[in-house]
Amino acid sequence: MAIRIEHTIDNQTQAPEGAKKLFIKSYGCQMNVYDAVRMGELMKPHGYAMTENLAEADLVVLNTCHIREKADNKMFSDIGRMRDATGGKALIAVGGCIGQAMGEDIMKRAPEVRVVFGPQTLHRLPEFINKAGLSGKGRAVDTEFPELEKFDALPLPGAYGPTSFVTIQEGCDKFCTYCVVPYTRGHEISRPAEHVLNEVRHLAGLGVKEVCLLGQNVNAYEDGDVDFVDLINKTADVEGIERIRFTTSHPNNMTDRLINLFAEQEKLMPYLHLPVQAGSNKVLKDMNRNHTAEDYLAVIEKLRAVRPDIAISGDFIVGFPGETEEDFEKTLMIAAATDYASAYSFKYSPRPGTPAAAMTNQIPDEVSSERLAGLQALLNDQQEAFNATFVGKETTVLVEEKTHIEGQLRGRSPHNIAVNFDGNERLIGHTIRVKITASKPKSIIGEIVLNDMQQSA
Ligand code: 5AD
Ligand code: SF4
Repeated sequence: MAIRIEHTIDNQTQAPEGAKKLFIKSYGCQMNVYDAVRMGELMKPHGYAMTENLAEADLVVLNTCHIREKADNKMFSDIGRMRDATGGKALIAVGGCIGQAMGEDIMKRAPEVRVVFGPQTLHRLPEFINKAGLSGKGRAVDTEFPELEKFDALPLPGAYGPTSFVTIQEGCDKFCTYCVVPYTRGHEISRPAEHVLNEVRHLAGLGVKEVCLLGQNVNAYEDGDVDFVDLINKTADVEGIERIRFTTSHPNNMTDRLINLFAEQEKLMPYLHLPVQAGSNKVLKDMNRNHTAEDYLAVIEKLRAVRPDIAISGDFIVGFPGETEEDFEKTLMIAAATDYASAYSFKYSPRPGTPAAAMTNQIPDEVSSERLAGLQALLNDQQEAFNATFVGKETTVLVEEKTHIEGQLRGRSPHNIAVNFDGNERLIGHTIRVKITASKPKSIIGEIVLNDMQQSA
């Protein structure tokens, strides 16, 4: 998706008159979406304004994802498309995880690409552009891993509505056998708590009410004696912050302290994204997940004991090498036992350089496709049923934006469900009460509760 910067409520870093135009396309995870916004902000003082119109772009950045093969292929087909759409006049740069993983090879496969960099050096983008020359013929590649340098070098972020991501941790030391993240994003590193809190205070000052703490293994956060629970509590103490979420968590880092926080910290929203990937202990072992299906279910049970209404979300991979029909049945069973509010599921995609790609018992694509369809049918039913439980009830909504329907607004409930309702756009940025009147597969619909004093905001 192209990142829109024009909704900024931070006017301090407007690009100058006659600015050059920057088009960013981001693929993959939320970390990438966040990085793309940061790149836009980084380039502003260098005279670049964001555009959504490829034809007028001077600089095109493809902020790529390497997690599944599909994302790789998409990037290579997009490069040619973008070269044509810009009439060959824009500098094309590849950032993100493919940049990190493939480096120089991208230049060989795609001669139109003149700059390649990875997620850890995106702050050096102005330097790369200088080196390659915006309208010259030079080229620059950088796939270094300078830990934390990026965070010190980036300007404080802008706000683009009442919710914002804040990266607190990056990288992964878990080395699941199917996954490229430890290779593309590097080791687990945590940002200093004081830096994170500064950023949260800054965002709150710009009107942000909800922050989502972001990291590949967010609940492995640690800065000296400040652990993840401490960081959440400190974030909750920042004036103006009403809601806190975090993503993505690993089951092995779900400490009792963190689980109990869902009962104790009222600003922590009752929603948790906790991937399990598979339900068979044999597959989990081959994936190097270091937990069993029972361990995962024990965490879910504890969470529900302290916070019965918690919405659980997850990730699944089907068709991992060696997965038998019986193994897959166990995935269906763990999904049924967890009863997800929403979940993502993927067909296993072999990634070059990962241990699973070298496993000899790969599963035929038709088998994986069939399993994926079966799992998704179950997960969709669960989501629909979860959404339906809210009909007739009231929920709070932090109003985020107008929808494309005249007079309609959209926000999120504490359980992270998109809520659509009619209302005045002045309500954007306010937390209001909405009575849910209907549910859909992926969202719920409601009416503003009018006898609420808040509504006069
Ligand atoms: N193939 C398919 N899905 C994958 N994921 C990670 N690596 C792969 C792969 N090689 C999924 C996992 C992870 C999510 C971000 O992407 O489910 O949680
Ligand atoms: Fe990848 Fe596993 Fe690390 Fe998640 S925990 S980023 S799936 S290696």
